[in-house]
Amino acid sequence: MNIRCEIRSDDEAIAEVNRLAFSGETEVKIIEAIRESEFYIPELALIAEINNLVVGHIILSYIHLIGDDTLQVLALAPLAVHPQFQKQGIGSELVKEALAKAENKQEALVIVLGHPNFYRRFGFEPSVNYGIASPFPVPQEVFMVKPLKNYQNNHRGKVVYPPAFSGSVD
Ligand SMILES: CC(C)(COP(=O)(O)OP(=O)(O)OC[C@H]1O[C@@H](n2cnc3c(N)ncnc32)[C@H](O)[C@@H]1OP(=O)(O)O)[C@@H](O)C(=O)NCCC(=O)NCCS
Repeated sequence: MNIRCEIRSDDEAIAEVNRLAFSGETEVKIIEAIRESEFYIPELALIAEINNLVVGHIILSYIHLIGDDTLQVLALAPLAVHPQFQKQGIGSELVKEALAKAENKQEALVIVLGHPNFYRRFGFEPSVNYGIASPFPVPQEVFMVKPLKNYQNNHRGKVVYPPAFSGSVD
């Protein structure tokens, strides 16, 4: 398996992986909207490929943590692995590589809404542990943050997602 940054010729294969993983178009549309927005970070949109076939995709993009001041942080979403390639470690490798690249970029914090059992192993913790509030009425344990080395643990506040994510994060 190889992990690399997405390029535009991957777009249709990435859409298909997301369509199959999520059984619908919602995440495909979110990814397209992120790419068209100012919050897109090309080096943090990665694919996993096996024999030149796209089998997984992850995208981290900028969102805002609004407290006394506004901190630019990262949202991890969506993450998808082709159903026929799940439970083989591909999703985990994509998360680890994306987090390493975010660390190298000296970003501060990554936010995810997802399964605690999956994300906890990468160092994600409930956001409430850091005084960070979710914009969604979800159980505390599913709204998680992973502080990076550059994070100064004094940014309390509420996460605000850009329009690209509208209706997407359930
Ligand atoms: C969630 C998702 C991205 C995980 O990707 P994945 O490649 O299946 O993940 P991994 O294989 O790294 O890990 C998943 C599980 O398989 C296990 N696993 C990892 N490697 C394995 C292997 N070689 N053999 C068997 N199991 C393995 C992991 O321990 C993990 O176990 P868990 O059941 O305790 O969570 C994928 O299942 C998916 O696309 N789901 C649909 C879309 C979705 O829900 N996206 C996430 C939004 S938060």
